Amino acid sequence: MNLSAVLHAPRDLRVEERPHPVPGAHDVLVRPGAVGICGSDVHYYEHGRIGPHVVRAPMVVGHEAAGTVVEVGADVDPARVGELVALEPGVPDRTCEQCLAGRYNLCPAVVFFATPPVDGAIAQLVAIDASFAHPVPAGLDVEQAAMAEPVSVGVWAARRAGVSPGDRVLVTGAGPIGLLAAQVARAFGARSVTVTDVSAFRLGIARELGFEGLDAREPLTGAFDVLLECSGAAAAFSAGCAALAPAGRAVLVGMGADTVSLDVALVQAREITVTGLFRYAGTYPTALSLLASGRVRTDVVVTHRFGLAGTDDALTLARRDSRSLKAVVLPQE
Ligand SMILES: NC(=O)c1ccc[n+]([C@@H]2O[C@H](COP(=O)([O-])OP(=O)(O)OC[C@H]3O[C@@H](n4cnc5c(N)ncnc54)[C@H](O)[C@@H]3O)[C@@H](O)[C@H]2O)c1
Ligand SMILES: [Zn+2]
Repeated sequence: MNLSAVLHAPRDLRVEERPHPVPGAHDVLVRPGAVGICGSDVHYYEHGRIGPHVVRAPMVVGHEAAGTVVEVGADVDPARVGELVALEPGVPDRTCEQCLAGRYNLCPAVVFFATPPVDGAIAQLVAIDASFAHPVPAGLDVEQAAMAEPVSVGVWAARRAGVSPGDRVLVTGAGPIGLLAAQVARAFGARSVTVTDVSAFRLGIARELGFEGLDAREPLTGAFDVLLECSGAAAAFSAGCAALAPAGRAVLVGMGADTVSLDVALVQAREITVTGLFRYAGTYPTALSLLASGRVRTDVVVTHRFGLAGTDDALTLARRDSRSLKAVVLPQE
């Protein structure tokens, strides 16, 4: 049996039987124990597409997964059976110019869970390249391990911004990504971390995690060395850039605004660096160790859990409940 959460068309998700995956020689077969719901899963569910990526054939959703190895391919160490692993959802080709330059997140041939036509991980069984099934440190449960995916976005953002000890960091957007990125920035040595949002509920969680939480509708005061833009709101980017100190670094993590305006005089006079971010590369071991050390907490970020049959409810949670953050599906329940 391999019951899976399959998206057939917008708002048409069915839990149905899929073929038992056969691991290739370099793969492991994993029984996912927890899969987080990301905004991209919700977007595919609501609209059947994200930009050029269109769901043309039924597709299994979910890409923030962890589980237990139940079988290995011919070239994989059989001792891995029984291991708890966090699944890095994008497997690159390892041979293109970007991969060879060490930027495998930019590999144009990457095979990424739940990006059409590739099936995702909300299933009872899934096969993945063994090198992308990362061993989970002792003490972490499967749900925390699954959160290594959004934590990885935070790790990559902090690395792209060069967050270093002493930095004053501004995170715009207190969604799951912003709240995790803020914790990563603190772990990387930030002197202060300020988080903005328009939701009082989400600002409350930011404060519970020990951050200064500011209403994004209020004028922003203070100077920051780093902006991690995690809201996708153009206004947050403009306000955040204006609050950067000389030599400040801004990273555009949030998606949503197609264009943002850039104050050229400000970027020049303060020598501001602005960069984008696409997923992550080489972040899983760091993300997992930050989780294991307790420096990144997911207990306040994961607010709702659903069994496999409740995947529909998990995907509609955000629009139904303003007091929610991350939903997790437990595919074996
Ligand atoms: N670049 C990448 O590879 C990558 C990877 C993962 C996620 N993302 C993006 O990161 C963003 C955050 O993800 P999430 O899951 O936390 O989403 P989310 O929608 O849960 O969080 C966004 C938050 O921004 C807040 N917000 C709205 N307007 C604001 C403003 N003007 N100022 C401050 N906050 C404001 C919202 O209230 C919300 O809490 C999304 O846009 C997502 O698409 C990008
Ligand atoms: Zn490549």
